[in-house]
Amino acid sequence: MIHVLFVCLGNICRSPMAEALFRDFVKKEQLSDKIAVDSAATSSWHIGSPPHKGTLEILKKYRVSTEGLVGRQLTKADFEKFDYIIGMDESNKKNISEILGQPKHPKILRLLDLTPHKKDVPDPYYTGDFQETYDLVSEGCRALLEKIRVEHEL
Ligand code: 4NP
Repeated sequence: MIHVLFVCLGNICRSPMAEALFRDFVKKEQLSDKIAVDSAATSSWHIGSPPHKGTLEILKKYRVSTEGLVGRQLTKADFEKFDYIIGMDESNKKNISEILGQPKHPKILRLLDLTPHKKDVPDPYYTGDFQETYDLVSEGCRALLEKIRVEHEL
């Protein structure tokens, strides 16, 4: 099994959106028996919480399942379990590296570095623009799936 973990600051806006969308892509491409998906926060603020209303609404708009999305915090043990640990912005990436004690490990990536944009995913908790975030997360997730397909010959 290939394990993919999306990480953001709160685990209620961007990373659960990426988790749900990536799982949807994986399912549609019939790779659910090969790729497992999860998400986590660098903070402890929303442990046990459901996603933000804006994330739930945009996922429902695109008929993406929101089942099983619950806030949790990244732990050191996640480093061994996951093959791809994907931050939404540069600050997430820095915090992930610190929590995991792994400066510059190649499996720790920023989502949009896999696309021509090479920028942070804007945080809709502050921008209020869940559509913009959805569009960029979707593009990043497509690029990630392609990378995994190439690297694992799927
Ligand atoms: P996220 O957004 O990292 O995309 O989940 C945020 C969620 C909550 C907070 C900040 C950002 N907060 O300050 O509680």
